[in-house]
Amino acid sequence: MTDDHDTPAAEGPIKTPKQLAATVVAAFLVPITLLLLVAGYFGAQPRTGAGSDAFDEHAVALRLQPVGRVALRDAPAGNAEPRTGEQVYQAVCGACHTNGTLGAPKHGDKAAWAPRIAQGFDALLHSALKGKNAMPPQGGGATSDYEIARAVVYMANDGGAKFAEPPAPAASAAN
Ligand code: HEC
Repeated sequence: MTDDHDTPAAEGPIKTPKQLAATVVAAFLVPITLLLLVAGYFGAQPRTGAGSDAFDEHAVALRLQPVGRVALRDAPAGNAEPRTGEQVYQAVCGACHTNGTLGAPKHGDKAAWAPRIAQGFDALLHSALKGKNAMPPQGGGATSDYEIARAVVYMANDGGAKFAEPPAPAASAAN
């Protein structure tokens, strides 16, 4: 056998027995490693069905829970004392009305409040309850309508109005 004769068959990346051995080993290891990685990926996904933890007590209770949940909050709940207008202002309204955030008329700024007060208390209360432009309904807070009314009176009166304190709702009609 001469070199000339063998040349075409010997072309290619594997030239020595060592390289051949390395190639054979790699041919086993590479796919196995890939398979292990893929299997590990799927193994890490949460399983469903029998044999998984989908049926443990907690998971079942979570699935069975009613759609609505009662959240107890201290604002208008039951017989809690309604907050004063000032307290509501400090808790909710001041976020915007102290600095005029989002274009809110500033607390105590009589020039800003005069044209608004001219609309009358009912219009202002309506805006505060339902929202107006950048102001979300109820100022975005968790408050009873009565507390909102008190806050409107508080803010408007500091802006030059002379609105009377709104009448407290009958105990059962609160909220
Ligand atoms: C997220 C910011 C924000 C909060 C919180 C907020 N307001 Fe306002 N408020 C505004 C903006 C902005 C305006 C001006 C709306 C307009 O006329 O475009 C406004 C306007 C008003 C007006 C005048 C409405 C009118 O018709 O001219 C009243 C009254 C008022 N707010 C009351 C309240 C009360 C009471 C609270 C708290 C319960 C409150 N706001 C909380 C942003 C806010």
